[in-house]
Amino acid sequence: MSLIEIKKVKKRYKVRKFGKTYSFMAVNDVSFSVEEGKCVGLVGESGCGKSTLGRLIVGLENPTEGEILFKDESVSTGSDKKVPKRLKFARDIQMVFQDSYDAVNPKFTAKKIIEEPLKNFTDMTAEEREKEVVDLLHKVGLDEKDKDKFALEFSGGQLQRVCIARALASGPKVFILDEPLSSLDVSVQAQILNLLSDIKKDMDISYLLISHDLEAVYYLADALVVMYGGQIMEKIDDISYFDKMKHPYTQRLLSSIPAYEKLDGVQENAEMVSMDLHVQADDFSGCPYVGRCPKRIDLCKEKRPEMKELEPKHYAACHIL
Ligand SMILES: Nc1ncnc2c1ncn2[C@@H]1O[C@H](COP(=O)(O)OP(=O)(O)OP(=O)(O)O)[C@@H](O)[C@H]1O
Ligand SMILES: [Mg+2]
Repeated sequence: MSLIEIKKVKKRYKVRKFGKTYSFMAVNDVSFSVEEGKCVGLVGESGCGKSTLGRLIVGLENPTEGEILFKDESVSTGSDKKVPKRLKFARDIQMVFQDSYDAVNPKFTAKKIIEEPLKNFTDMTAEEREKEVVDLLHKVGLDEKDKDKFALEFSGGQLQRVCIARALASGPKVFILDEPLSSLDVSVQAQILNLLSDIKKDMDISYLLISHDLEAVYYLADALVVMYGGQIMEKIDDISYFDKMKHPYTQRLLSSIPAYEKLDGVQENAEMVSMDLHVQADDFSGCPYVGRCPKRIDLCKEKRPEMKELEPKHYAACHIL
């Protein structure tokens, strides 16, 4: 069963540059779902719309168009103006952020941080909450004595564990993990990945794991969505199709992984231009990746490719595939 369903979601922002206002699509016609107990990896480079999508799913903002469903119930529908139903789903859908030092009050102790959702969502007594906090600390690999430490006294990896414990406290069904590893050292990244893997197995929580690091996502994901310029370029519903991914942008992402660097035709050449807001402007009708694509044809500038099924569970939006 689909726990989260994202249906043709668009998010338009307005930005002011050199005294002029531009509107552009940070997320443009994105559809995919997160199945119960599964992890969907969402990858793509900086600015492609990953965090925006995460914020839309937890209901911090509303999409401009489209709909997001949690267990067939609407979290938010296409209207920037409506008040998002954040509170209604706050218990079920929890977000873990990139920089844990930003995500918590540095003057709070671990106990105060983890206790907050218990106060908001349960009618536990102070004594029960205390016991639950200790249980949660153990679950994330911390110690009972850590409960009285202030946020600032933890290392980055330890504080990310506290944040994961806080997210677990409300008994959620889904974690939206927005770059949970990127502010951590490589060795600590592996520990947090292992922790997330254990939690997923033990506690039946579904994940949307947002990252620009394809390798880290591969470790945990059951399905994969590749975004560029606000749009989905390629999508596999089963990670065992990973080696078959062939969109030119996915190929470029793969080329940054040492084991894949020898793939043909994936090096960018000098004439290629980098992504700018132009390809996300409302009136741009081509493929957002056209400026950097080594395999582009004339049609790519003119017409946005539709998402098509290349084989069961494998989809891509590309004119040459
Ligand atoms: N509130 C906002 N107002 C205007 N523009 C915004 C707003 N939030 C995001 N954007 C823009 O939307 C685009 C997508 O941003 P988003 O933060 O979703 O990217 P991202 O994929 O998460 O990138 P990163 O990997 O750097 O975190 C960017 O161009 C960003 O500048
Ligand atoms: Mg982001």
